[in-house]
Amino acid sequence: TAQQFQSGLLAGKKVVITAGPTREAIDPVRYISNHSSGKMGYALAEAAAEAGATTILISGPTQLATPDRVQRLDVTSAQEMYDATMASLEGCDLFIASAAVADYRPAQLAEQKIKKTGQDTMTIELVKNPDIVTAVAASQPKPYTVGFAAETQDVVSYARGKLERKKLDLVIANDVSQAGIGFNSDRNAVTLVWPTDEETLAENSKTQLARDLIARISAKIT
Ligand code: CTP
Ligand code: CA
Repeated sequence: TAQQFQSGLLAGKKVVITAGPTREAIDPVRYISNHSSGKMGYALAEAAAEAGATTILISGPTQLATPDRVQRLDVTSAQEMYDATMASLEGCDLFIASAAVADYRPAQLAEQKIKKTGQDTMTIELVKNPDIVTAVAASQPKPYTVGFAAETQDVVSYARGKLERKKLDLVIANDVSQAGIGFNSDRNAVTLVWPTDEETLAENSKTQLARDLIARISAKIT
């Protein structure tokens, strides 16, 4: 780590990273969320800071410690993550969207705890959340914009679809159907989907993968 820090691969650069899950409130005591641990995003923030970048980590609720030299902004909902991201873009050279953002939120936030009724079923209407990485890729000036794609099948073709649809510079694809890696694990294996080619990084610790990812991305933005 000292070696990468000394290399200064990202010295003078500003990096913004989203990480973790979001929580979408249903009522004062309940929410919709997912099992994202935030580990990959925190490892990327640590690696970016080691590489000398001014690093902002916009984090949903996690159990993780803030890496050294990283400025962390805590958010809860997708809308808060969107607002914090947009407010952090000035001078941003690299944006990495590692957060598992809830695609939908409840259409209504009940002000009081929802009570059981006599019915055996209930329905919660959901509305779409803003797509944060798409908004960053459409911003001017556009930072180098990296997304993730967690897929259970046809990993590379779905990832390439996201690269094109969201106008990203890179998608880091991972196969979340593989037991023991990816979601919530300390280890991962990824395929980098660039506009013109692909590269697979074999299973490794998220810490080491993050360093390798930051080294590859740095080469594209300097
Ligand atoms: N993303 C985002 N804002 C959202 C949804 C997703 O910034 N509201 C980002 C994620 O952080 C990730 C990328 O978009 O970098 C892809 O997320 P993913 O959930 O795989 O893709 P979706 O476009 O939401 O498609 P789907 O969930 O249907 O596969
Ligand atoms: Ca999604």
